[in-house]
Amino acid sequence: MADGRFAISCTLGFIIFAFHPICGDVSYSVPEEMKRGSVIGNIAKDIGLDLGRLSARRARVDSEDSGVQYCSVNLNTGELVVQERIDREGLCAKKTSCILKQELVLENPLELHRFTIRVQDINDNAPQFKEDSFKFEIQESTVKGARFALGEAHDGDIGENAVQGYTLQQNDNFKLNVNLRSAGRKYCELILDKELDREDNNEITLVLTAFDGGSPQRSGTVVIHVTVLDANDNAPVFSQTVYKASLPENSAPDTLVTTVTATDADEGLNSEVSYEFYQRSDENGNVFSISPKSGDIRVTGIIDHEKIPSYEMQISAKDGFGLVSYATLIIDVTDVNDNAPIIKLKSLTNQIPENVSPGTEVGIINVQDRDSENNRQVRCSLQTGVPFKLVPSIKNYYSLVTTEQLDRELVSDYNITITATDEGSPPLSSSKTVHLTVADINDNPPVFEEQSYSAHVTENNKPGSTLCSVAARDPDWRQNGTVVYSLLPGEVNGAPVSSYVSVNGDTGVIHAVKAFDYEHFRSFKVQVMARDNGSPPLSSNVTVNVFISDVNDNSPQILYPTPEGNSFMTELVPKAAHAGSLVSKVIAVDADSGQNAWLSYHIVKSTDAGLFTIGLHSGEIRTQRDISESDSMKQNLFVAVKDNGQPPLSATCSMYLLISDNLAEVPELKDISYDERDSKLTSYLIIALVSVSTFFLTFIIIVLGVRFCRRRKPRLLFDGAVAIPSGYLPPNYADVDGTGTLRSTYNYDGYMTTGSRTSDFKFVSSYNDNTLPADQTLRKSPTDFSDVFGDCDVSPEWHVTY
Ligand SMILES: *[C@@H]1O[C@H](CO)[C@@H](O)[C@H](O)[C@H]1NC(C)=O
Ligand SMILES: *[C@@H]1O[C@H](CO)[C@@H](O)[C@H](O)[C@H]1NC(C)=O
Ligand SMILES: *[C@@H]1O[C@H](CO)[C@@H](O)[C@H](O)[C@H]1NC(C)=O
Repeated sequence: MADGRFAISCTLGFIIFAFHPICGDVSYSVPEEMKRGSVIGNIAKDIGLDLGRLSARRARVDSEDSGVQYCSVNLNTGELVVQERIDREGLCAKKTSCILKQELVLENPLELHRFTIRVQDINDNAPQFKEDSFKFEIQESTVKGARFALGEAHDGDIGENAVQGYTLQQNDNFKLNVNLRSAGRKYCELILDKELDREDNNEITLVLTAFDGGSPQRSGTVVIHVTVLDANDNAPVFSQTVYKASLPENSAPDTLVTTVTATDADEGLNSEVSYEFYQRSDENGNVFSISPKSGDIRVTGIIDHEKIPSYEMQISAKDGFGLVSYATLIIDVTDVNDNAPIIKLKSLTNQIPENVSPGTEVGIINVQDRDSENNRQVRCSLQTGVPFKLVPSIKNYYSLVTTEQLDRELVSDYNITITATDEGSPPLSSSKTVHLTVADINDNPPVFEEQSYSAHVTENNKPGSTLCSVAARDPDWRQNGTVVYSLLPGEVNGAPVSSYVSVNGDTGVIHAVKAFDYEHFRSFKVQVMARDNGSPPLSSNVTVNVFISDVNDNSPQILYPTPEGNSFMTELVPKAAHAGSLVSKVIAVDADSGQNAWLSYHIVKSTDAGLFTIGLHSGEIRTQRDISESDSMKQNLFVAVKDNGQPPLSATCSMYLLISDNLAEVPELKDISYDERDSKLTSYLIIALVSVSTFFLTFIIIVLGVRFCRRRKPRLLFDGAVAIPSGYLPPNYADVDGTGTLRSTYNYDGYMTTGSRTSDFKFVSSYNDNTLPADQTLRKSPTDFSDVFGDCDVSPEWHVTY
């Protein structure tokens, strides 16, 4: 346009000033690089020159400033033709308008016509980079958006034909940023669009293309070499995220458990991995070690499956610059049979009553094994030969039950050994001894050592004397086996047995409570019971036979004649009595028995020694010779009756015989009794007897008085063994009953307090008021005597006088 306008104005100027020697500019516009000889324009015509004269006028083109003749004028046609290569770039470089100022010189006359040739750009240059290639070394860690200058491409052309843009080879990481610089120059930068990864691609080659806007378009390229430098961007990577290992417990120290490995994709130091445990808990403590270099995991502590069956640890792998990654290590500790079973006694009936029925549970046992699986399967057994067994119950519980009836008296305690064995290989076992005691039950009655007991005692024994002792055994325990003896109630001759004997509850010694009188009874039976102190008590009975033996304690008693001095009985002897005729008989009895009652009769003294004899054992008095007239009428015999005891006892009597045929002949009976010579001894005897009787009577009265006074007072208690003061005992005579034995009438009430160690005797002295007939005649019926004397013809009426 500008050129066109310029051209027009020039044309106008040419038109206006056509006749000026130096005319206004004619301008031509030509593209550069036209071939030589190419016509630019017809200058002759444009200036209005006469063609024919051109050559004459030696028209030529002169360059105004340079010596280069770019164009020339064809003298024939008046046309401007290209003479030299017109290179706009060479002429004008980056100037937007490239004008060659030329002059057409004509001679003759000299005329100077200026004209300009406007050189137009053609796209004859490709964009070009100065560098052969770009070389970048970029850290892979470089962040996105980083810029790397690439500079610009150069293109000699201008305008459209200059560099219009750049393109970068398609790639993952970079993009191109094109900047507009002043004067429309464009330069570009490489922008990191996506982080590099050396491990992925450590060399990147890109082609950068610059292109211009000409037609045809031209472009130039350059190669960009990018070397990706390593950054420690890769953490080590474990070969497994979870490592699993198993290890038998009790493994020795230094045993290799497993090896962990991690690799690092980086290079050099960045890839040097070291291992360690991460956040190790105390529990895992020092049980394992890890080699930092090799990743070997070894045992350093005690591995106990029962404590920690499995370990879980975090392991870290760290490279040289501290990138870390983690893996989990799980170590299962496998069980080894290293724990013996443990037997625990959960409950135990320590005292098992012996009467429990078989099958009674007496204890609970729990068995544990800390191992696992088979190693914790436990069998429990009991030693043989004891009446117990183990009954498996829920889980690891066993009941200890009895299998038989127990008997404490046979086996009072048991030591039971319980053995528990596990099923490990080799099996382990342990045992426990349980002590069981059998408690007593009162199941055994006392048993007397003998079937029956006999006691022999002589009469007139001291009250309290020992008769015999009984003993019973009871195998039970303590009070269940403590034997207490007692009398069973019974009667002996109508009196309670306790009035005769007593038994010491503890010792079984049987005492006489009072003196026995053989003449009263010769034997009796006592039932003694042995009872234990159990609850309820058990007992057994035994019979004790008490045999009383005789003692010569009774003097013969003369029944006829009545004892001397108290009665004056006289036998009549006929004068005509011949020798050997029976004149009288001394009748005596002895309450004793046997030898002690075997009586013999003797005439101790007589008026006429040769006249009468007495039968030694019959007591019959017979005449020894015929009675003669010279014999004294009054005959007096003094007879002694003696028993055969040791020592013998005797009694005497006097017998008065009157030799007469007629009782009327007897002058005075009274005189008979007083024989001068004999009476002295007789009167001594009488005096002695009377005084003894009087004394005794007084004594009895006193005793009765005392007794009466004490009647309402508490009874006398005697402790311990029977000890009855003899002073309280009345004399041994009281009553003669039909059997001829003498009976004392005092009673003992005997009783025992159960459970006491001693027996208390209550002594109740209760004299029968009729006991002491001080001066009393007892009358007996004839039948009473017939038992004793048989068919004795003696008068049944007799007197006992003190
Ligand atoms: C049981 O053991 C205890 C203590 O070892 C011992 O004194 C006792 O005699 C034993 N008993 C039996 C019946 O073996
Ligand atoms: C005696 O036997 C009874 C059961 O008959 C019992 O209860 C008691 O404990 C036993 N006494 C002793 C000392 O063993
Ligand atoms: C012993 O005798 C008493 C009294 O007669 C009687 O109750 C008891 O059952 C007897 N005991 C034995 C073991 O026979």
